[in-house]
Amino acid sequence: MSEQTWTVVDLLRWTTEHFAGLGIESPRLDAEVLLANTLGTGRLELYLHYDKPVTRAERSAFRELVVRRGGDRVPVSQLVGRREFWSLPLRVTGEVLTPRPETETLVETALELLPDVDAEVRVLDVGTGTGAIALAIARERPKARVVATDISPAALQIAAANADELQLNDRVRFLAGSLFEPVAGERFDLVASNPPYLVRGSVGLAPELAHEPEVALFAGDDGLEVLRPLVAGVSEVLEDRGKLVVEIDPSQADAVSALCESAGLVDVQIRRDLAQRPRVVAAWKAEA
Ligand SMILES: C[S@@+](CC[C@H](N)C(=O)[O-])C[C@H]1O[C@@H](n2cnc3c(N)ncnc32)[C@H](O)[C@@H]1O
Repeated sequence: MSEQTWTVVDLLRWTTEHFAGLGIESPRLDAEVLLANTLGTGRLELYLHYDKPVTRAERSAFRELVVRRGGDRVPVSQLVGRREFWSLPLRVTGEVLTPRPETETLVETALELLPDVDAEVRVLDVGTGTGAIALAIARERPKARVVATDISPAALQIAAANADELQLNDRVRFLAGSLFEPVAGERFDLVASNPPYLVRGSVGLAPELAHEPEVALFAGDDGLEVLRPLVAGVSEVLEDRGKLVVEIDPSQADAVSALCESAGLVDVQIRRDLAQRPRVVAAWKAEA
């Protein structure tokens, strides 16, 4: 008996419905990214080869990814080992947070606060993960010198590999340690950070988060365990008129603004993400 022929479009339709039925947020996109990855092509090429039959070996490799995505809820970024952030293709594993689109709001804010493209500014990214923020700023400000730190040596290895691939390793330095410990005695024009800020055990967390490192996600009973010392200590490493830009959970806008004021920072501002949720707090160190 002849086997049924499965084409690209058949597999996309079937998988999209399957993922939607499981409550996956972006079923069509996930199906496209996984199939393109299996076929070693780009997403757009799928549309050019809609009616192309998919071989048995390719289907079997694709099925494995579909099971891990649908059953175990492994994030697509980890299944394909990549995620694009600020148009930079970044390597991603389970040892590091997958960069989120919301964090592009932080990068936008940082660039607004560093308006001179050719300035030789010094920038610190605390908790760099894949290097997303540090590398985006280094790409956009070609004379900036960036230090990127993380408490996780595994994350730093991935960040350094990303810097190598993007040929930004001559201007981005990676240091291991907590908060400002690795940069004691140094001064920066801007400190950026997307620290862990989720409350452990909070309800409604996406099942995909189980595949990301806890140290990248959770910050104590109120989500401020890292933000609190970060804001309190930032003046030590900021130049006069230096800026702080931090990502927050939308529920933390008032609390983090108050932390900035208590730390003596001025001109505290809140920026919203594309979904209009408060997402970034920015503030300045007043002149001495
Ligand atoms: C939410 S992730 C952000 C990763 C990356 N910056 C991004 O935006 O995609 C937080 C990062 O902070 C790191 N981290 C957690 N606690 C830290 C601490 N006390 N000092 C430095 N880094 C820390 C984690 O290892 C993780 O890589």
